[in-house]
Amino acid sequence: MGMFEGKVALVTGGNRNTGLDIVEKFVREGAKVFMCGSSEASTAKGAAILKERGVEGVVAQACDISDAKQVEALFDTVERVAGRLDILVNNAANQGLGHGGPLEATAAQFREVFATNVFGGFQVTQTACNRFFMKQETRGAVVFLSSNTAQRAIRCRTAYCASKGAINSMVRALALDLGPLGIRVNCCAPGYIYTERWETLDPAKAKRRRMNCPLRREAKGADIANVVAFLASDASGNMTGEIVTCDAGCSCQHMPEDVDV
Ligand SMILES: NC(=O)c1ccc[n+]([C@@H]2O[C@H](COP(=O)([O-])OP(=O)(O)OC[C@H]3O[C@@H](n4cnc5c(N)ncnc54)[C@H](OP(=O)(O)O)[C@@H]3O)[C@@H](O)[C@H]2O)c1
Repeated sequence: MGMFEGKVALVTGGNRNTGLDIVEKFVREGAKVFMCGSSEASTAKGAAILKERGVEGVVAQACDISDAKQVEALFDTVERVAGRLDILVNNAANQGLGHGGPLEATAAQFREVFATNVFGGFQVTQTACNRFFMKQETRGAVVFLSSNTAQRAIRCRTAYCASKGAINSMVRALALDLGPLGIRVNCCAPGYIYTERWETLDPAKAKRRRMNCPLRREAKGADIANVVAFLASDASGNMTGEIVTCDAGCSCQHMPEDVDV
């Protein structure tokens, strides 16, 4: 029997890369899974990939998580189809790529990153609590995805790094207020994850990235999905407000071996 038999889960950004692996893990563990991408086209594409992988029964509905109306519409579907929700995975993210450095990034770009990563995650969590968790005896569990860049910044990603730091703080704040109500809120902070973006990466750069990692490898989406599943499951039932890093040991070093002197 799977660890999520009889459970209902919602995974935001479940339509590509890591999100697909999280959806697949939850389905294979017995959950009824709802997922969204930000647009009709990207969500449909993700649903087709899941079908190709033999991942059945996923309900896919486009939802820009920064838009209150679209969030309500997504939860209307969860209510109509499943009538309950047990697990929320806040995986969707605006990567804030291509903004240049802090002297070039525009206010609109900065706001967009925060609208998805911070406010979007909050809005979906609040809606899950009010519409489902607080009405159910068994309440629910929330898992956010932040990043090891919340602690150790990367270049030309000011808004992204700041948003991931804000997620870590929000996880602790939500855990504090929602814990007494029986709702757990935890977070997985990945480092490098293999995604479609690695397919166009210069192999020499990929090799150096791996050298940055004490374990000499980036995470697969499945590595992250395993941590998320643990944090969403009863196996972590006494944990809340935790940020669990999954980054092949990157954060435990002062500097990578190939530049160490
Ligand atoms: N990849 C890494 O190396 C890495 C490292 C550390 C942390 N992380 C974190 O791990 C998570 C997964 O990473 P990833 O690289 O797999 O993500 P990704 O490839 O960048 O995918 C982001 C997902 O979020 C969705 N999304 C973006 N804006 C949205 C919005 N406003 N409303 C709804 N959905 C929205 C995207 O949907 P569309 O397809 O519609 O755009 C997509 O499904 C993210 O939280 C990321 O920040 C990733």
